[in-house]
Amino acid sequence: MDLWYMLIFTVFPYVCLTIFVVGHGYRYVTDRFGWNARSSEFLEKESLFAGSVIFHWGIILTFFGHAGGLLIPQRVFDFFGIDARGHMAVAYWSGLAVGIAAFVGALLLWRRRLIQPRLTAVTTRNDRITLAGLAVVIGLGLFNVVFGHYNVLYTLAPWIRGIVTFTPDAGLMRAVPLSYKLHVIAAWALLAFSPFSRLVHIWSAPIFYLFRPYILSRRRAAL
Ligand code: HEM
Repeated sequence: MDLWYMLIFTVFPYVCLTIFVVGHGYRYVTDRFGWNARSSEFLEKESLFAGSVIFHWGIILTFFGHAGGLLIPQRVFDFFGIDARGHMAVAYWSGLAVGIAAFVGALLLWRRRLIQPRLTAVTTRNDRITLAGLAVVIGLGLFNVVFGHYNVLYTLAPWIRGIVTFTPDAGLMRAVPLSYKLHVIAAWALLAFSPFSRLVHIWSAPIFYLFRPYILSRRRAAL
């Protein structure tokens, strides 16, 4: 049993992280022109807009929620007067809102690829795995929010911090309910798959575009 915990909650995450890092480097070197979101906007716009906007807002806020809520230890929240109860309440309501958005958005994106013939024709197996993977990971996360009601602050959260700081402790996952375990296992697997999919576009978000200087266009002066 200990060996299984060690394999699933220590070895597996590091294998996935290694594939994630090396895979992105490899993809960048070997397929630089394929490094994009492969937008299908020119084939179909209407349903893309709703699905994509809802999905992207939901998933990006979910990402920041996970980073803030799990990577920052509870003692830091305690210092600022937010006890575990308050922390869990904020996590519940915000997780519910952004989780529903990400899940509904992913289903809308998946649906349009199933029912629009022009999109079905260009949808690859890789696209189906990506959207299905996202739907499974987000679906399990949302299931945990709605039905789990499990306090992750003293088990799952320190476990993930241990992975990030190279001090893993698989034993912390022992008391964690199965649906939470499945959520993190599916998330690690998706992380390992992502360098080989269109998800690479995440790392090319045009953030600097927001801060770039204005481009001034002037009329040619009348001669
Ligand atoms: C970091 C900021 C991000 C930017 C600027 C961005 C931008 C884009 C753009 C321009 C597209 C193509 C057009 C469209 O489908 O809307 C796209 C598609 C997509 N993005 Fe993102 N994205 C970001 C983050 C993410 C994240 C965090 C995920 C998931 C973890 C994600 C998953 C997807 C998927 C699955 C598609 C394909 C949708 C489809 O055509 O079926 N994106 N993204």
